[in-house]
Amino acid sequence: MAAASLRSRIRGKNPINAYARRKFSELRLRTGIYRARIDAYLAFSRELLTDPRDVGAVCPSSPYLAQAMAAELRNVGDGLVVELGAGTGSITRALLQQGVAPERLILIERSAKLAVHLRKQFPFVRVIEGDARELNKLLGSDAKEVKAVVSGLPLRSMSAGVVSEIVQQLKQLLTGGGILIQFTYDLRPWSVCMDTTMRRERTRLVWKNLPPARVNTFVRATEAVQPVV
Ligand SMILES: C[S@@+](CC[C@H](N)C(=O)[O-])C[C@H]1O[C@@H](n2cnc3c(N)ncnc32)[C@H](O)[C@@H]1O
Repeated sequence: MAAASLRSRIRGKNPINAYARRKFSELRLRTGIYRARIDAYLAFSRELLTDPRDVGAVCPSSPYLAQAMAAELRNVGDGLVVELGAGTGSITRALLQQGVAPERLILIERSAKLAVHLRKQFPFVRVIEGDARELNKLLGSDAKEVKAVVSGLPLRSMSAGVVSEIVQQLKQLLTGGGILIQFTYDLRPWSVCMDTTMRRERTRLVWKNLPPARVNTFVRATEAVQPVV
């Protein structure tokens, strides 16, 4: 017993063992990250094959795009953050890294399989399997606490009717202020307005994404804005 304890103490102090242990835990961490990425790509590809129009992208958002979206939350303060179309969770990860507490984050995802994937990846974040067209109903009494919506919804591959329903939901949700962060593959700087009551505050290009994307941040305007098309 005493010999075993002595052995384990010596082992603990042996620099070669300490080095090996550090390398081993680094490797385990890296393997975990790669496994999460592979899981995400598999989940995304399965969804892309079954429902390409709903996914509306060729691969998950890159970490650069995700970070650019998350950085827009800098001055939002407290309150809830809702992510629409969270998919494989690449933007979710960036939001958490940006400092959004898991209990302040709500993910909305229409695909049942991706909702399961998100729950597995982020066990401390609330995941609602549902349609953004019913956003306010899905959020219930939490709706009034929402300060920001981060959207990965493929608005350009949706029908005009569906987009209009989602925009109505967003307008209702953000009546008391708050921001909407939406990315688009339309890189043209003049594709400004999603609606006459949503004013674009900031815009930024992200080249390191497939395909490159533009991040737009909108605020709910008190007066109607003229669309620039
Ligand atoms: C561009 S993909 C996901 C992007 C995500 N950032 C990623 O990297 O995985 C769009 C996601 O929106 C979801 N989606 C599409 N229409 C939706 C709707 N009406 N309500 C909620 N989610 C929707 C799709 O299932 C898909 O996961």
